[in-house]
Amino acid sequence: MSLAVALTKGRLEKSVTAMLEECGYGVQKLKDKGRALVFEDTVKDIRYFLAKPNDVITYVEHGVADIGIVGKDTLMEGGKDYYELLDLKTGECRFILAGLPGNNPLQKVGHITIGTKYPNVASEYFHRHSLDPEIIKIDGSVELSPLLGLCDGIVDIMETGTTLKENGLVVFDEVCRISARAIVNKVSFKMKRDEVMEFITDLKEKVNEKC
Ligand code: PRP
Repeated sequence: MSLAVALTKGRLEKSVTAMLEECGYGVQKLKDKGRALVFEDTVKDIRYFLAKPNDVITYVEHGVADIGIVGKDTLMEGGKDYYELLDLKTGECRFILAGLPGNNPLQKVGHITIGTKYPNVASEYFHRHSLDPEIIKIDGSVELSPLLGLCDGIVDIMETGTTLKENGLVVFDEVCRISARAIVNKVSFKMKRDEVMEFITDLKEKVNEKC
């Protein structure tokens, strides 16, 4: 039986493709892809497609993809109807609380406002601190929101820290560490168990080699 694998476009694309290549998968076309979104593996019986992070979860939950590779940040914020089987230990970054120097929202007395692309992650983090801020959903360039005075701070992902630094923002706290994960459709895990486990095991061996 063939496998359908949804890969996340953008940030994770390069490192995940490199990992698949190291596992001996035929992913050359993914590296020279232009604007194409669907690719056949030239070695294995696998079809890959590239999607936005939230859509990777949607495709896996609906069984259009048997397996999805997506960041833990998206998984923490989104649906839960899948099995999370592997930490690929690539695409590593952190969820952080940040803001303008001297303006730590955790130390503010009174109404707190937080800008974020991840409202659920932000709410849960503040609840752990017994705080209930107003969460304002921002779709991108979240760093702008405290600069413009929309909010006291942001909960966002930080990889190199360059975006924060270049916009004069500082980290107040680390919420958690995140990385790429492999998720599997629940039916595929039963019906295509051998194929799914072969794929996961190949990746797992590669992850272990690197640790
Ligand atoms: C993410 C994140 C930060 C930036 C952090 O945004 O929201 O803005 O990357 O990366 P850095 O620490 O390496 O600078 P992304 O690039 O995904 O774009 P977006 O802001 O449009 O969502």
